[in-house]
Order: sequence, then C-alpha cells, then structure tokens
Amino acid sequence: MENNRAQWGSKLGFILAAAGSAVGLGNIWKFPGKAFEGGGGAFLLMYLLIVPLIGMPCMLSELAIGRAAQSNVVDSFGRLGHKGYAWTGWVGWSVAFIITCYYSHVGGWVLRYTVSYAVESGKVYADPLGYFYNMLGYDAAAGSTFIPWPVLIFAALFMAVCCFIIIKGVEGGIERFNKIGMPALFVILVVLLIRAATLPGAAPGLKYMLSIDASKVTPQTFLIALSQAFYSLSLGMAIMITYGSYLPRTENIARNTFMVCTMDTLVAVIAGFMVIPAVFATLGPEGVGKGGGFAFVSLAGVFQQMPGGAFFGFLFYLLLLFAALTSTISLIEGIVAFLIERKGWRRTPTTIAVGLIMFLIGCLYTCSQAALPIKGIWFDFKNGITYPAFCDAMEFLTDRIMIPVCALGCCLFAGWSWTPQNVVAEVEQGGIKFGLVKFYSFLIKFVAPAAIIVILAVSLFTGTTLS
Ligand code: PHE
Repeated sequence: MENNRAQWGSKLGFILAAAGSAVGLGNIWKFPGKAFEGGGGAFLLMYLLIVPLIGMPCMLSELAIGRAAQSNVVDSFGRLGHKGYAWTGWVGWSVAFIITCYYSHVGGWVLRYTVSYAVESGKVYADPLGYFYNMLGYDAAAGSTFIPWPVLIFAALFMAVCCFIIIKGVEGGIERFNKIGMPALFVILVVLLIRAATLPGAAPGLKYMLSIDASKVTPQTFLIALSQAFYSLSLGMAIMITYGSYLPRTENIARNTFMVCTMDTLVAVIAGFMVIPAVFATLGPEGVGKGGGFAFVSLAGVFQQMPGGAFFGFLFYLLLLFAALTSTISLIEGIVAFLIERKGWRRTPTTIAVGLIMFLIGCLYTCSQAALPIKGIWFDFKNGITYPAFCDAMEFLTDRIMIPVCALGCCLFAGWSWTPQNVVAEVEQGGIKFGLVKFYSFLIKFVAPAAIIVILAVSLFTGTTLS
C-alpha cells in the first residue's frame, strides 16, 4: 500500500502522543471520585483486571486497523475489505466531534482556574461554590443568571491553542507538544502525590484506597470501572485508529499498546492516591464527590487548608490543563484527518473551521450549565422521553450510546470480520512474534463484545450513566 501519510518521528513520540490522548480529565478528575464510590481498593482491583483483559485487546485492534489500512477512521474499514463497517467509523468520528465540543470547554474552565489560583486564590477560597457558579453565569446570591463571557473567552483560547498545534502537523505539532507536555504532567503528578501523602491525616485515605470492601464488589461497580476504562483509554472514538495509521511498519504495536495502557492506568491510580488522601485529610470522606463540581469546588477546600495551597492548587490545574490539551488535540486530529483525506481539504483552513464550529456548539454546553435554560432530548426505557439540560444530553449521547457502539463495531470487526489472524499478521509486520494469539482472539471475539453489550443494555434500560 502506498504510504505518503504523515508519520510519527520517533517511537517515543508516538507513545507520548497516544498516552497524551488517553491521559485526560478522565484520569485525574473522574477516576478518583469513581474509585472512592466503588470502595477504593475494590474498584482499583477491578480496574486493574479490566485494563489488560478488555482495554488492551481493544486498543491493540484499533491500532492494528489504523496501521494496516493507512487511512482515517471512516475509510479504514473499507480499505481492509469491509465497507459495511463504515458506520463504525462514522460513529467514532461523530463521538470525537461531540466530545471535543464540550471537552474543549471544560479545558477552558480548567484554564480559568489555573489563572484563578495564580492570581486570586483568596477569592476562590472565600466562596468555592459561588466562584464556580459565577464562572458559569449564575449569581447564587441574587438568584440571577448572565452570559459567562470570561469563561467563554478562556474556552476560545484553549481551542485556539489546540488548533494551532494541529495545524503544525503530526510530527511538528502533536508529537512535539506531547514530548513537553507529558513529562511535565508526570513531574507535577509526582510532586502533588508527595504533597498529598505527607499531609497530616492522609493515612485513612491511603488505607481506604488499599483496602478491599467486599460489599462494594458489585456488578454496578464493575460496569462503572469498565466504562471508565474505555473512556480513559480513548477507545471507541476514532482516535487510536488515526494515531495507529501514522505508525511505521517497524513498530511493535503490542508493546506500544502495553506501554500506553500502563501509563494511562498509572496516572489514574496516582491521581486516586493523591486526591482521595488529600480530601480525607482536609474535608473528610464526605468531601469526596464526583464530576465537575468536585474538581472545581471541593478541591478548593483542600488547597485552602494545605500549607502552600495556592501554589499546589495552581500546579494541580496546570496538570489538568496539560492532560486536557493533549487529549483534545488527539480528538481534533481524528476529526481533521478524515476531512483532509476524504474531502481533499487543506489542513489549516479545515482545522480553523472545525475548531470554530466545535467551539460554538461548546458554548451551548457551557451556557446550559446554569446561564441559559437550553434543553436537549433523551430517551431510555426506564424513564421514557426526558428533556435534560443540553450539556447533560451531550454527555449521555456519547458516554451511554455512541462510545459503546463504536467500540463494539471495532471488536466485531477485529474479532469476526477482518479476523484476529489479520490483526496478528499486522502486529507481526515488524518482525515480531506475538505470543498471545489464542488469548487475544478469545478476548476480542467474546469477552470484550459481551462486556460492551452489557454496558449498552444497562445504560439504555436502567437510565444510569456509567461513565
Ligand atoms: N481519554 C481521555 C480522558 O481520560 C478522554 C478522551 C476521550 C480523549 C476520547 C480523547 C478521546 O480524559
């Protein structure tokens, strides 16, 4: 197959870029809350089993599909002889599009908080919830709402930085940025871990994360861990196929998969061991919550009570900022690569146009948090038709349906249509012997699809969100 596509400049470049995609807000802000809910050690144990048994085979398949096809997410399936799977690519492409709309806005919030801790931590501490609401356009004291221009500008800035890096290309932009961003992220993470673990009163939190509470080992916890793993590893959304297509034939995909998954998991686990003990030490176990409010509101209490808190707070949001940037970049690359190849458009105008559209849709996400009553529409078999806030509807659509559907398509493709033999042949291209053929086939044919179908069914029939 002819090969005039962009390629990663080095092995490390690819690994850092793929790990940069995987390590995102999901690891640092979602994982600790879920680990807490799931009983600490019990959740960790399940997660540590799910990553190698389900996450790794899926990532290996996506990378192999991309590299074998040397194409974007939609066309890859056709190039490998199965045009009928183009829908999988379309779903993946669309998920990346929708997620970028809101992920980049949350990136804007993070940027706002990075600046806030640098210049006005006192204001954040004085009223953490009020500060957060105010950022989103709600004045709690007066009960009034307004358009939150400042945070929209931060989101625009965040998107502009991502687009700038994408325009610089695969090697000159994405790889280069990740080579700085990812090591910086690791250093900050370790500094924060040490800070948290040495806080007086951190021990109960550490203990909680290490002890296994059997009553928490439930199917529900398992499913939460499972869907967290998909999200965290950036699976089911076009990314790894696109990134795999830039991999040279000589690269060992199996080893790269292992390294990326390990790095992603390591960051999540370290984040858990940093956030939970810190919250236990300052606010007590009641302080642990989930989602945006947790990262932005509860943690203010943590930093306020910690010696050197404003500085560590600033570092924490800087960490989140790097994580969000490298992930958003991967999402945009997946979207842009398809448009450039399929439509023959040029990289720069395509990136700018797509970035602008996604930013504007994202404004509805940020504004529907509090400022404007914009609604979406939703259906599940438990609650029927409902009209959640637009921002929630966006997340439901991607997390509950589209990611599992795309991931399922990839598994069925690799397991049953293109077949594991071809995946393995692609893995062995670089002259490597892949020793786990039977095990991989079994996982990708049966275990992973079954797990994904269960996620999908539970989301649709019980109306719960698992990610
Ligand atoms: N894996 C990222 C995280 O953990 C999220 C993400 C999803 C990034 C999809 C890119 C693509 O936050």
